[in-house]
Amino acid sequence: MSPDPQLQSLRERLPQWMDASRGKAAEGRVASYIPELAKAPADALGVCVLAADGSSVFAGDCGLPFTMQSISKVFTLLLALKDKGETGVFARVGMEPTGDDFNSMLKLELVEPGKPFNPLINAGAIAVTSLIDGATPADKFSRVLAFFREVADDPTLDYNEAVYHSESATAHRNRSLAYFLKDNGVLSENDEVEDVLEVYFKHCAVETTCRNLARMALVLAFDGTDPISGRELIPRRYVQIAKTFMVTCGMYNASGEFAIRAGLPAKSGVSGGILTLVPGRFGIGVVGPSLNGKGNSIAGVHLLETMSSHFDWSIF
Ligand code: DON
Repeated sequence: MSPDPQLQSLRERLPQWMDASRGKAAEGRVASYIPELAKAPADALGVCVLAADGSSVFAGDCGLPFTMQSISKVFTLLLALKDKGETGVFARVGMEPTGDDFNSMLKLELVEPGKPFNPLINAGAIAVTSLIDGATPADKFSRVLAFFREVADDPTLDYNEAVYHSESATAHRNRSLAYFLKDNGVLSENDEVEDVLEVYFKHCAVETTCRNLARMALVLAFDGTDPISGRELIPRRYVQIAKTFMVTCGMYNASGEFAIRAGLPAKSGVSGGILTLVPGRFGIGVVGPSLNGKGNSIAGVHLLETMSSHFDWSIF
């Protein structure tokens, strides 16, 4: 397989694009509602673009460790789909964007009481976490970690204890969402709220890098088959579902804007990571902890929009 010609072009242009995007960081703010996240370097920016033959381009702080946060929700959704199938998952969670904040309670009570709108808002992701097979929270989380490690092709992937404890100690909103779900039967009788939350906080706290995200994204870019090892890791249909949610809800309330400007399935997290992909071509990981008003990496979004419009990557 000859190297993708866009990689060389990217290599030449990235230094200049990175400088322009890094300049945006000062306009945003690092998330602080999980106290441990506030320690991240606001002006960091890293990117890794990985192709099917394993060749890559990376720049900036691509080795900076950060936690997956909401990016993990794409992969817990995929695991729940593998465990419970489409019928089992969509009995508990909907398929529509909300237009509300990711931790909002509003529509849980107003519309179709109790059932979260989609698996990428916090309420939906907590419901999805409860669907993962395993007799105990430890069993469930070890299955989550094993799945993440397999997709990332990295047996060392693990969660960050300090971030996990920091979130668990301050997660009053998520606790109230989870108890509301329990009251409405979205969490089943067998699901203890604190057990589900433990697994949820831990998967949000899985530590990664841009390179790792790009590796996971590459599997999605190739419909669930890892093009590097040739292994089929996730059924194509489930990847199709996950990528659709990434387009409609992956960038919170800026998903429409990102779809217009970059046109790529993407998922962001409050630690400043963004996982995105060019179908059949690249897996991409970005980190830039300074967030814009919508909660997405301000420099990361700018960089992805620059790259996508230059190479005409939009899927639309
Ligand atoms: O539950 C939380 O608030 C964080 N663990 C994850 C939030 C995040 O990245 C944005 N959520 N959609």
